Amino acid sequence: MAFDIDMIKQVYANMTERVDAARKITGQPLTLSEKILYSHLWEGKPTKELVRGKDYVDFAPDRIACQDATAQMALLQFMQAGKAKVAVPTTVHCDHLIQAKEGAATDLKHANSTSSEVFNFLESVSNKYGIGFWKPGAGIIHQVVLENYAFPGGMMIGTDSHTVNAGGLGMVAIGVGGADAVDVMAGMAWELKFPKLIGIKLTGKLSGWTAPKDVILKVAEILTVKGGTGAIVEYFGPGATSMSCTGKGTICNMGAEIGATTSTFGYDESMERYLRATDRADVADAANEVKEYLTADAEVYENPEKYFDQVIEINLSELGPLLNGPFTPDLSTTVGSDMTKKANDNDWPLTVEWGLIGSCTNSSYEDLSRASSIAQQAIDKGLKMKSELGINPGSEQVRYTADRDGILGIFEKLDAKIFTNACGPCIGQWARYSDPKNAPKNSIVHSFNRNFAKRADGNPNTHAFVASPEITAAIAIAGRLDFNPLTDSLINENGEEVMFDEPTGWELPPKGFEVKDNGYLAPEEDGSHVKIAVNEDSERLQLLEPFTPLGDTITGAKLLIKAFGKCTTDHISMAGPWLRFRGHLDNIANNTLIGAVNAFNKKTNFVKNQLTGEYNAVPAVQREYKKAGIKTIVVGDHNYGEGSSREHAAMQPRHLGVAAVIVKSFARIHETNLKKQGMLGLTFANEADYDLIQENDTFNFLDLNEFAPDKQLTIEAVHEDGSKDIIKVNHTYNDAQIKWYQKGSALNLIKLQNA
Ligand code: F3S
Repeated sequence: MAFDIDMIKQVYANMTERVDAARKITGQPLTLSEKILYSHLWEGKPTKELVRGKDYVDFAPDRIACQDATAQMALLQFMQAGKAKVAVPTTVHCDHLIQAKEGAATDLKHANSTSSEVFNFLESVSNKYGIGFWKPGAGIIHQVVLENYAFPGGMMIGTDSHTVNAGGLGMVAIGVGGADAVDVMAGMAWELKFPKLIGIKLTGKLSGWTAPKDVILKVAEILTVKGGTGAIVEYFGPGATSMSCTGKGTICNMGAEIGATTSTFGYDESMERYLRATDRADVADAANEVKEYLTADAEVYENPEKYFDQVIEINLSELGPLLNGPFTPDLSTTVGSDMTKKANDNDWPLTVEWGLIGSCTNSSYEDLSRASSIAQQAIDKGLKMKSELGINPGSEQVRYTADRDGILGIFEKLDAKIFTNACGPCIGQWARYSDPKNAPKNSIVHSFNRNFAKRADGNPNTHAFVASPEITAAIAIAGRLDFNPLTDSLINENGEEVMFDEPTGWELPPKGFEVKDNGYLAPEEDGSHVKIAVNEDSERLQLLEPFTPLGDTITGAKLLIKAFGKCTTDHISMAGPWLRFRGHLDNIANNTLIGAVNAFNKKTNFVKNQLTGEYNAVPAVQREYKKAGIKTIVVGDHNYGEGSSREHAAMQPRHLGVAAVIVKSFARIHETNLKKQGMLGLTFANEADYDLIQENDTFNFLDLNEFAPDKQLTIEAVHEDGSKDIIKVNHTYNDAQIKWYQKGSALNLIKLQNA
């Protein structure tokens, strides 16, 4: 069963009742985002007005989606919850662990052999706990979700930042860390600060070479990579309704690149067409019945300044194709001569070596068909490819249909490599070089979303530019970054000057979608007999053991590290090559805090072992303390744990025996993650006390036995010379969170409650 129409009908029934109630309470018309948020409150019918950017609110999402890299730890944790099945419809998608090299057939075979234990684990856990499983090669999580699960007015969370893609079908869809997903799988609420709202009014109409991608590239230029933080972006206006549903998905997808909580569009005919084309006429029928609830109240869009915190207007008729990059997705350049100047000024290589079309951002049927219209012109006009071309279709359904309709054949005639229906180069799974670190400076163009240094091919000298699929195709054929297909001609094999015509394509396949095996495995109705096999010698997977409570007396704890300056979750648990160990807590713990700067010597991964007086790597020193049965403390600066919401950054220190993290201030998600893992996340009552902490300090908690909400804790820091400082620390634990601490973790508590 791909989706549950009864569940969707129930969401709509709730929506009508709850939105009416919210309108009464707030006394004003509602935006679409508010309608979806108010109709998904954990408590049910709204009882009070929620303050944007201030109130923390418990929500009840309708669905969860996980990708293979993040699903490993999420599911390992869920197994600890003692539940027979997930409480909310959940799917797992194998898309991140497939490297692009030779082409789909060979690459998929290779991935199935090198990552078989991870795929088998995810498949068996999914089967056991009622989770839908999408096999390697079935497609990229967000394209598969859009085709099968997203529905107007719904709320979903996913363990991937581009979960926001489902906003293209009118959802509020948000990327979260694994620990949040586990809570919802286990039947708990999901908490979010009630977001601010940015309204983007789209007037005019896209035409010619301009595509939905250019809309979000323009928005990124306006708002920059931080401009959407803490906000939902709601698009509206005639320009919005004139775009395809998958085009809207592209725009919402890259909302992640402006830091937005999510982005969404009101229900319209393009969504209805997409639902019907993807075999969900019943969802379209149900949505049609509550149409007015699936978009903002008319007054909101008539007078947006009054109802949104910020309003931006973009006239699509005036928008031209853009190229954003390199190294950041918000650095916009108009295609053509602007690029010649900028590239020369900044020493960006003008020769383009690769064009890549795909990723969850731009791998729909429409994207491939429009790009193929350019490729077909290259064939017809006798043009030779000047760079290499790679294609990642978004799903097996898109691939099969595009193959049937001759689209992939056109790319193949240009010697393009058709890679697996998977993330591939978008997540650095691209075997482009044998030694990427020392690879030469070069430029590539792609239709993906992120273009940070090393992201695609591991080469810090690759200048990656982001564009629409049709512009990517044209630039790849021309082989020049500053090629403007609107004005520039190219010389063909016969020495003639030729120009491209505007791209053409189909919003949806004229002959309908088709697929033989979409790669979906439904879970068994009763999976209780399914055994989860994890090899004890596995490097990549390790079943979790419940954490032991830290208790109400902590004395003699040693300082592991006093982190200086920025300490993000990347500094605490690095990504890159460590991705491989995401499902093996003990192995990945070997990267714990290796990026944090030691305040005493300003070096990374070089801290004093107080037991020996010697300096060593942080994980090694911590393991020595653990062996000696000594608890440790991590001290940090402001906004400790900012960045990705990965729960590994809390689980690893916990696993290695760190008892408390005391900082000037926390990034909130990381603070919550520490609480969930049964640790102490504390802040200095007096920030200046950070300076009192010395390298050889030992800590005694003086009143941990009185741990209670809103009550400071007192810690004695004993210095090497025997002198002492009394340090007061604050915390934000409520009663329930103190129970997590007392039981050893939130999951331990859930398990006890289920017993
Ligand atoms: Fe995959 Fe890249 Fe999207 S990693 S989920 S294709 S952002």
